[in-house]
Amino acid sequence: MTEPKISTESITPKSSSYKKWVESEGIPLVESFFVDDIAQVPLAPWKRTGGLGVRLCLAGTGETNDAYICEIPAGKSLAPEKHMYEELIYVIKGRGAATIWNEGEPKRTFEWQEGSLFSPPLNAWHEIFNGNGSEPARFLAVTSAPCMINLIHNTDFIFDCPYVFSDRYHSQENYFGNPGIWYSGRTWNTNFVADVKNLKLLEWKERGGGGSQVRLEMSENTLCGHISQFAVGSYKKAHFHGPGAHVIILAGDGYSLLWPRGQEIKRFDWKPGSLVVPPGGWFHQHFNAGSVPVRYLALRWGSQKYHEMWGEGRGKADVDVKLGGNQIEYEDEDPVVRTMFDQACAKAGVDNLMAKYYPNSRPNLPYESE
Ligand SMILES: [Fe+2]
Repeated sequence: MTEPKISTESITPKSSSYKKWVESEGIPLVESFFVDDIAQVPLAPWKRTGGLGVRLCLAGTGETNDAYICEIPAGKSLAPEKHMYEELIYVIKGRGAATIWNEGEPKRTFEWQEGSLFSPPLNAWHEIFNGNGSEPARFLAVTSAPCMINLIHNTDFIFDCPYVFSDRYHSQENYFGNPGIWYSGRTWNTNFVADVKNLKLLEWKERGGGGSQVRLEMSENTLCGHISQFAVGSYKKAHFHGPGAHVIILAGDGYSLLWPRGQEIKRFDWKPGSLVVPPGGWFHQHFNAGSVPVRYLALRWGSQKYHEMWGEGRGKADVDVKLGGNQIEYEDEDPVVRTMFDQACAKAGVDNLMAKYYPNSRPNLPYESE
């Protein structure tokens, strides 16, 4: 019998399969907690796509999902691609069209504009066109590339697999144009949202902040999204869930607090275009410290149709921690939270309306962290 070989080298490479792939793409990787403005992040030429890009694998994703920002030069299109990871595309700026097809089947084309949200179905070919001959178009996509590439660690399979997921998309003529289905729990099953900035939202009392919301299920994905809005002079309740919720501020000014249970609070001040990803299991809380309602788009795990992947704690996200849920009620929060908000409102010259909206909400006892 031959003896096994002995190696003096480490078996553990310096970076993950996903990070090695990002490096091979030749575009920068951002790994911070927070991005100040997705419309302004510098991009580099991205040879494979024919556009410009940057990859964002923020700390709060736990490398389960990621995002990238891409710019399509004026009047140009990106190289067609298909891949074995999901992606949700939010248009930051510009207008254009996208053509989607399965190998050997008819092509379907639809138009998009600033504020649109859509998702090429898993492993379907897609080509994205900038419809403006004089201005670049920019979008941000949230993808499941990190978990897929780290699991499979073979990019030929990721980008060149012939399998057609006809259970997700079988060349339906009106796939991106049909009005979808509304379900209970403020949930819209749709494959295209024309403008997330102006979509009418539905009241959501449980999370506080005079809030409204719509949850989005798209292209039979495991990734999903929601749009939330909350009132001037108010803030939402703290809660936690799994990693990878990309929160993009669409309107308003304010800040988010993020903290692991019982540990120091981090504060991030934001404006339209900011992006924050709360790490899995960390409490986080969003505050409107400006003069207009805050609206954000969250692109994340936690589909209600295809659940149990690092999700929002199905059914627990807006349930009191005292009852086994994931949310801290106003009256239980650390008093420093309200004091900080008093100061932020005074600085912005707006009234703190929490006492008006929630008369019994002023915290009187420090929150018990265990
Ligand atoms: Fe959250």
